[in-house]
Amino acid sequence: MKGELERILKEAKNDISASKDTKTLEEQRIKYLGKKGVLKSILSKLGGLSENERKEIGKHANEVKTQIEGFIQTASDTLEAVARESRLKSGIADLSVGTKTYPLGFYNPLTIVRDRMVAIFKSMGYSVEEGPELEEEFYNFEALNIPAQHPARDDHDSFYVSENELLRTHTSPVQARVMKKRQPPLAIVVPGRCFRRDAVDATHSHTFHQMEGLVVDTDVTFADLKGTLSLWARMMFGENTRIRLRPDFFPFTEPSAELAVSCWVCGGKGCNVCKGTGWVELAGCGMVDPEVFKAVGYDADKYSGFAFGMGLERIAMALFGINDIREFYENDLRLLEQFVK
Ligand code: DAH
Repeated sequence: MKGELERILKEAKNDISASKDTKTLEEQRIKYLGKKGVLKSILSKLGGLSENERKEIGKHANEVKTQIEGFIQTASDTLEAVARESRLKSGIADLSVGTKTYPLGFYNPLTIVRDRMVAIFKSMGYSVEEGPELEEEFYNFEALNIPAQHPARDDHDSFYVSENELLRTHTSPVQARVMKKRQPPLAIVVPGRCFRRDAVDATHSHTFHQMEGLVVDTDVTFADLKGTLSLWARMMFGENTRIRLRPDFFPFTEPSAELAVSCWVCGGKGCNVCKGTGWVELAGCGMVDPEVFKAVGYDADKYSGFAFGMGLERIAMALFGINDIREFYENDLRLLEQFVK
Protein backbone atom coordinates (compact mmCIF):
# COMPACT_ATOMS: atom_id res chain seq x y z
CA MET A 1 0.00 0.00 0.00
CA LYS A 2 2.90 2.29 0.76
CA GLY A 3 4.21 1.73 -2.72
CA GLU A 4 0.82 2.48 -4.14
CA LEU A 5 0.69 5.81 -2.30
CA GLU A 6 4.11 6.76 -3.72
CA ARG A 7 2.92 5.89 -7.21
CA ILE A 8 -0.21 8.02 -6.75
CA LEU A 9 1.89 10.94 -5.56
CA LYS A 10 4.12 10.78 -8.61
CA GLU A 11 1.22 10.45 -10.99
CA ALA A 12 -0.65 13.30 -9.38
CA LYS A 13 2.41 15.53 -9.63
CA ASN A 14 2.72 14.86 -13.36
CA ASP A 15 -0.98 15.24 -14.09
CA ILE A 16 -1.32 18.43 -12.10
CA SER A 17 1.70 20.18 -13.52
CA ALA A 18 0.55 19.24 -17.02
CA SER A 19 -2.82 20.97 -16.50
CA LYS A 20 -2.99 23.85 -18.95
CA ASP A 21 -6.11 25.55 -17.66
CA THR A 22 -8.17 25.84 -14.50
CA LYS A 23 -10.81 23.45 -15.76
CA THR A 24 -8.33 20.60 -16.24
CA LEU A 25 -6.75 21.44 -12.92
CA GLU A 26 -10.12 21.13 -11.21
CA GLU A 27 -10.65 17.78 -12.89
CA GLN A 28 -7.33 16.59 -11.49
CA ARG A 29 -8.29 17.79 -8.06
CA ILE A 30 -11.48 15.77 -8.19
CA LYS A 31 -9.63 12.77 -9.56
CA TYR A 32 -7.14 12.66 -6.71
CA LEU A 33 -8.79 14.39 -3.78
CA GLY A 34 -12.50 14.16 -4.56
CA LYS A 35 -15.05 12.18 -2.56
CA LYS A 36 -14.72 9.27 -4.98
CA GLY A 37 -11.11 10.07 -5.76
CA VAL A 38 -8.01 7.91 -5.83
CA LEU A 39 -6.93 8.70 -2.28
CA LYS A 40 -10.35 8.00 -0.80
CA SER A 41 -10.45 4.58 -2.48
CA ILE A 42 -7.08 3.69 -0.96
CA LEU A 43 -8.26 4.74 2.48
CA SER A 44 -11.36 2.61 2.12
CA LYS A 45 -9.08 -0.40 2.03
CA LEU A 46 -7.53 0.41 5.40
CA GLY A 47 -10.19 -1.65 7.16
CA GLY A 48 -8.45 -4.90 6.31
CA LEU A 49 -5.17 -3.90 7.99
CA SER A 50 -3.87 -4.33 11.51
CA GLU A 51 -4.20 -1.38 13.91
CA ASN A 52 -0.53 -0.40 13.59
CA GLU A 53 -0.51 -0.62 9.82
CA ARG A 54 -3.69 1.36 9.66
CA LYS A 55 -2.11 4.16 11.73
CA GLU A 56 1.04 4.21 9.65
CA ILE A 57 -0.66 4.10 6.25
CA GLY A 58 -3.29 6.60 7.40
CA LYS A 59 -0.56 9.05 8.39
CA HIS A 60 1.27 8.54 5.14
CA ALA A 61 -1.93 9.00 3.12
CA ASN A 62 -2.53 12.31 4.91
CA GLU A 63 0.95 13.50 4.01
CA VAL A 64 0.36 12.55 0.39
CA LYS A 65 -2.92 14.47 0.47
CA THR A 66 -1.19 17.57 1.80
CA GLN A 67 1.48 17.34 -0.87
CA ILE A 68 -1.10 16.98 -3.64
CA GLU A 69 -2.94 20.02 -2.28
CA GLY A 70 0.37 21.89 -2.48
CA PHE A 71 0.86 20.86 -6.12
CA ILE A 72 -2.62 22.10 -6.93
CA GLN A 73 -2.03 25.43 -5.20
CA THR A 74 1.25 25.98 -7.03
CA ALA A 75 -0.29 25.06 -10.37
CA SER A 76 -3.24 27.34 -9.71
CA ASP A 77 -0.93 30.27 -8.80
CA THR A 78 1.07 29.71 -11.95
CA LEU A 79 -2.03 29.61 -14.14
CA GLU A 80 -3.28 32.81 -12.57
CA ALA A 81 0.03 34.60 -13.05
CA VAL A 82 0.12 33.55 -16.70
CA ALA A 83 -3.46 34.74 -17.21
CA ARG A 84 -2.69 38.07 -15.54
CA GLU A 85 0.40 38.53 -17.65
CA SER A 86 -1.56 37.97 -20.84
CA ARG A 87 -4.33 40.33 -19.69
CA LEU A 88 -1.72 43.00 -19.05
CA LYS A 89 -0.09 42.37 -22.42
CA SER A 90 -3.44 42.71 -24.15
CA GLY A 91 -3.69 46.18 -22.60
CA ILE A 92 -6.68 45.52 -20.36
CA ALA A 93 -6.15 46.93 -16.88
CA ASP A 94 -5.89 44.17 -14.33
CA LEU A 95 -8.77 44.88 -12.02
CA SER A 96 -8.28 41.64 -10.14
CA VAL A 97 -5.12 42.82 -8.45
CA GLY A 98 -5.88 43.44 -4.80
CA THR A 99 -5.00 46.83 -3.39
CA LYS A 100 -3.61 47.52 0.01
CA THR A 101 -5.67 50.00 1.94
CA TYR A 102 -4.02 52.30 4.41
CA PRO A 103 -6.00 54.17 7.06
CA LEU A 104 -6.17 57.89 6.34
CA GLY A 105 -4.35 60.19 8.72
CA PHE A 106 -6.03 62.92 10.72
CA TYR A 107 -5.29 66.59 11.04
CA ASN A 108 -3.98 67.97 14.27
CA PRO A 109 -6.53 70.52 15.50
CA LEU A 110 -3.81 73.19 15.32
CA THR A 111 -3.37 72.49 11.61
CA ILE A 112 -7.11 72.84 11.11
CA VAL A 113 -7.16 76.19 12.89
CA ARG A 114 -4.07 77.42 11.04
CA ASP A 115 -5.48 76.44 7.64
CA ARG A 116 -8.84 78.04 8.39
CA MET A 117 -7.18 81.26 9.47
CA VAL A 118 -4.89 81.33 6.45
CA ALA A 119 -7.87 80.75 4.14
CA ILE A 120 -9.78 83.62 5.75
CA PHE A 121 -6.91 86.08 5.45
CA LYS A 122 -6.08 84.96 1.92
CA SER A 123 -9.68 85.71 0.99
CA MET A 124 -9.04 89.26 2.22
CA GLY A 125 -5.96 89.56 0.00
CA TYR A 126 -3.22 88.73 2.50
CA SER A 127 -0.20 86.66 1.50
CA VAL A 128 1.47 84.07 3.71
CA GLU A 129 5.04 84.57 4.91
CA GLU A 130 7.39 82.48 6.99
CA GLY A 131 10.47 83.20 9.01
CA PRO A 132 13.20 81.25 10.80
CA GLU A 133 12.55 79.54 14.11
CA LEU A 134 16.15 80.18 15.12
CA GLU A 135 16.08 83.97 15.16
CA GLU A 136 18.53 86.80 15.60
CA GLU A 137 18.11 88.86 18.73
CA PHE A 138 17.80 91.93 16.54
CA TYR A 139 14.60 90.74 14.86
CA ASN A 140 13.09 89.08 17.91
CA PHE A 141 13.59 92.12 20.14
CA GLU A 142 15.46 95.26 18.96
CA ALA A 143 13.64 95.77 15.68
CA LEU A 144 10.40 95.45 17.63
CA ASN A 145 11.31 98.28 19.97
CA ILE A 146 12.34 95.97 22.81
CA PRO A 147 15.88 97.16 23.65
CA ALA A 148 18.34 95.14 25.74
CA GLN A 149 17.25 96.27 29.17
CA HIS A 150 13.53 96.57 28.42
CA PRO A 151 11.36 94.81 31.02
CA ALA A 152 9.18 93.35 28.23
CA ARG A 153 12.03 90.89 27.61
CA ASP A 154 11.25 89.33 30.98
CA ASP A 155 7.92 88.13 29.63
CA HIS A 156 9.76 86.25 26.93
CA ASP A 157 11.96 83.87 28.89
CA SER A 158 13.93 82.66 25.96
CA PHE A 159 16.03 79.77 24.72
CA TYR A 160 19.31 81.39 23.64
CA VAL A 161 21.66 79.25 21.59
CA SER A 162 24.42 81.85 21.32
CA GLU A 163 25.14 85.43 22.36
CA ASN A 164 22.63 86.86 19.88
CA GLU A 165 20.60 83.93 18.52
CA LEU A 166 17.56 82.43 20.16
CA LEU A 167 14.51 80.32 19.37
CA ARG A 168 11.97 82.99 18.46
CA THR A 169 9.59 83.82 21.26
CA HIS A 170 6.85 85.04 18.91
CA THR A 171 6.11 85.38 15.19
CA SER A 172 6.45 89.18 15.36
CA PRO A 173 10.12 89.19 14.16
CA VAL A 174 8.84 88.17 10.72
CA GLN A 175 7.13 91.59 10.52
CA ALA A 176 10.54 93.22 10.63
CA ARG A 177 12.12 90.69 8.26
CA VAL A 178 9.45 91.22 5.61
CA MET A 179 9.48 95.02 5.96
CA LYS A 180 13.27 95.03 5.52
CA LYS A 181 12.88 93.13 2.25
CA ARG A 182 9.79 94.72 0.77
CA GLN A 183 8.16 98.10 0.36
CA PRO A 184 4.51 98.90 1.23
CA PRO A 185 1.72 98.22 0.53
CA LEU A 186 1.95 95.01 2.56
CA ALA A 187 -0.69 92.64 3.90
CA ILE A 188 0.77 89.45 5.33
CA VAL A 189 0.00 86.70 7.81
CA VAL A 190 2.72 84.58 9.36
CA PRO A 191 1.81 81.27 10.95
CA GLY A 192 4.60 79.63 12.88
CA ARG A 193 6.08 77.81 15.82
CA CYS A 194 7.44 79.75 18.79
CA PHE A 195 9.34 78.87 21.94
CA ARG A 196 9.52 80.16 25.49
CA ARG A 197 11.17 78.88 28.61
CA ASP A 198 7.78 78.21 30.23
CA ALA A 199 7.18 75.35 32.62
CA VAL A 200 4.69 72.98 31.02
CA ASP A 201 1.19 72.82 32.51
CA ALA A 202 -2.37 72.67 31.23
CA THR A 203 -2.13 76.12 29.63
CA HIS A 204 1.61 76.56 28.99
CA SER A 205 4.01 74.84 26.67
CA HIS A 206 7.64 75.65 25.81
CA THR A 207 6.65 75.16 22.17
CA PHE A 208 3.51 76.77 20.79
CA HIS A 209 2.09 78.38 17.67
CA GLN A 210 1.08 81.87 16.68
CA MET A 211 -0.20 83.70 13.67
CA GLU A 212 1.04 87.19 13.07
CA GLY A 213 -0.68 89.72 10.85
CA LEU A 214 0.71 92.95 9.41
CA VAL A 215 -0.75 95.57 7.10
CA VAL A 216 1.23 98.64 6.02
CA ASP A 217 0.21 101.31 3.56
CA THR A 218 -0.46 105.03 3.50
CA ASP A 219 -3.47 106.01 5.62
CA VAL A 220 -4.05 102.75 7.48
CA THR A 221 -6.11 103.53 10.57
CA PHE A 222 -7.30 101.84 13.74
CA ALA A 223 -10.70 101.54 12.06
CA ASP A 224 -9.09 99.26 9.45
CA LEU A 225 -7.71 97.08 12.24
CA LYS A 226 -11.07 96.93 13.94
CA GLY A 227 -12.93 96.15 10.72
CA THR A 228 -10.45 93.44 9.77
CA LEU A 229 -10.56 91.70 13.13
CA SER A 230 -14.32 91.96 13.26
CA LEU A 231 -14.66 90.32 9.82
CA TRP A 232 -12.15 87.65 10.80
CA ALA A 233 -14.07 86.87 14.00
CA ARG A 234 -17.35 86.50 12.12
CA MET A 235 -15.78 84.27 9.49
CA MET A 236 -14.02 82.19 12.12
CA PHE A 237 -16.69 81.83 14.80
CA GLY A 238 -19.99 82.72 13.18
CA GLU A 239 -21.99 85.63 11.82
CA ASN A 240 -23.17 86.92 15.21
CA THR A 241 -19.72 87.17 16.78
CA ARG A 242 -18.78 90.58 18.16
CA ILE A 243 -15.30 91.77 19.08
CA ARG A 244 -14.03 93.72 22.08
CA LEU A 245 -10.83 95.79 22.06
CA ARG A 246 -9.36 96.90 25.37
CA PRO A 247 -6.21 98.99 25.87
CA ASP A 248 -3.07 96.95 26.36
CA PHE A 249 0.66 97.44 25.97
CA PHE A 250 3.11 96.02 23.45
CA PRO A 251 6.39 97.79 22.67
CA PHE A 252 5.92 97.40 18.92
CA THR A 253 2.41 98.85 18.66
CA GLU A 254 1.00 102.18 19.74
CA PRO A 255 -1.81 102.25 20.67
CA SER A 256 -2.07 98.58 21.58
CA ALA A 257 -5.11 96.50 22.35
CA GLU A 258 -6.21 93.12 23.55
CA LEU A 259 -8.76 91.44 21.33
CA ALA A 260 -11.58 89.35 22.73
CA VAL A 261 -14.47 87.85 20.80
CA SER A 262 -17.97 87.27 22.12
CA CYS A 263 -18.34 83.65 23.17
CA TRP A 264 -19.58 81.61 20.21
CA VAL A 265 -20.88 78.90 22.49
CA CYS A 266 -23.15 80.88 24.83
CA GLY A 267 -23.42 84.05 22.76
CA GLY A 268 -22.13 86.13 25.68
CA LYS A 269 -24.23 84.82 28.57
CA GLY A 270 -21.33 83.01 30.22
CA CYS A 271 -20.33 79.33 30.00
CA ASN A 272 -17.36 76.98 30.40
CA VAL A 273 -15.60 78.09 27.25
CA CYS A 274 -15.60 81.79 28.21
CA LYS A 275 -15.24 80.99 31.91
CA GLY A 276 -18.45 82.80 32.68
CA THR A 277 -17.34 86.14 31.22
CA GLY A 278 -19.06 85.99 27.83
CA TRP A 279 -15.74 86.91 26.13
CA VAL A 280 -12.77 84.89 24.94
CA GLU A 281 -9.41 86.71 24.75
CA LEU A 282 -7.56 85.65 21.64
CA ALA A 283 -5.00 88.15 20.44
CA GLY A 284 -2.83 91.20 20.92
CA CYS A 285 -2.91 93.95 18.32
CA GLY A 286 -2.35 97.62 17.61
CA MET A 287 -0.99 100.26 15.24
CA VAL A 288 2.63 99.65 14.23
CA ASP A 289 4.88 101.80 16.42
CA PRO A 290 6.89 104.39 14.42
CA GLU A 291 10.02 103.03 16.14
CA VAL A 292 9.50 99.74 14.29
CA PHE A 293 9.21 101.58 10.97
CA LYS A 294 12.45 103.37 11.80
CA ALA A 295 14.23 100.11 12.60
CA VAL A 296 13.38 98.65 9.20
CA GLY A 297 14.01 101.85 7.24
CA TYR A 298 10.41 102.85 6.44
CA ASP A 299 9.36 106.49 6.44
CA ALA A 300 7.20 106.70 9.57
CA ASP A 301 5.59 109.96 8.41
CA LYS A 302 4.47 108.44 5.15
CA TYR A 303 3.31 105.01 6.24
CA SER A 304 1.06 103.62 8.89
CA GLY A 305 -0.02 100.08 9.65
CA PHE A 306 -1.59 97.66 12.04
CA ALA A 307 -0.44 94.33 13.42
CA PHE A 308 -1.90 91.48 15.40
CA GLY A 309 -0.64 88.28 16.97
CA MET A 310 -2.86 85.33 17.79
CA GLY A 311 -2.16 82.17 19.75
CA LEU A 312 -3.29 79.17 17.72
CA GLU A 313 -3.43 76.84 20.73
CA ARG A 314 -5.70 79.25 22.53
CA ILE A 315 -8.06 79.48 19.62
CA ALA A 316 -8.07 75.70 19.03
CA MET A 317 -8.66 75.02 22.73
CA ALA A 318 -11.61 77.36 22.85
CA LEU A 319 -12.98 76.27 19.50
CA PHE A 320 -12.81 72.53 20.13
CA GLY A 321 -13.26 72.44 23.90
CA ILE A 322 -9.75 71.05 24.53
CA ASN A 323 -8.75 71.91 28.06
CA ASP A 324 -5.13 70.83 28.23
CA ILE A 325 -2.53 72.30 25.85
CA ARG A 326 -0.42 69.12 26.07
CA GLU A 327 -3.11 67.29 24.08
CA PHE A 328 -1.86 68.99 20.90
CA TYR A 329 1.59 67.46 21.01
CA GLU A 330 1.06 63.95 22.36
CA ASN A 331 -0.23 62.34 19.16
CA ASP A 332 -2.90 60.49 21.08
CA LEU A 333 -5.15 58.98 18.42
CA ARG A 334 -8.16 59.16 20.71
CA LEU A 335 -7.97 62.94 20.31
CA LEU A 336 -6.71 63.13 16.73
CA GLU A 337 -9.27 60.70 15.32
CA GLN A 338 -11.95 63.25 16.07
CA PHE A 339 -10.51 65.75 13.61
CA VAL A 340 -11.20 64.72 10.07
CA LYS A 341 -11.02 67.97 8.17
N1 DAH B 1 4.03 89.12 19.82
C1 DAH B 1 3.06 89.27 20.88
C2 DAH B 1 3.23 88.16 21.90
O1 DAH B 1 3.73 87.12 21.56
C3 DAH B 1 1.66 89.24 20.35
C4 DAH B 1 1.33 90.46 19.56
C5 DAH B 1 0.75 91.54 20.17
C6 DAH B 1 1.62 90.53 18.21
C7 DAH B 1 0.43 92.67 19.48
C8 DAH B 1 1.31 91.66 17.49
C9 DAH B 1 0.72 92.74 18.14
O2 DAH B 1 1.58 91.80 16.20
O3 DAH B 1 0.41 93.86 17.41
O4 DAH B 1 2.86 88.32 23.01
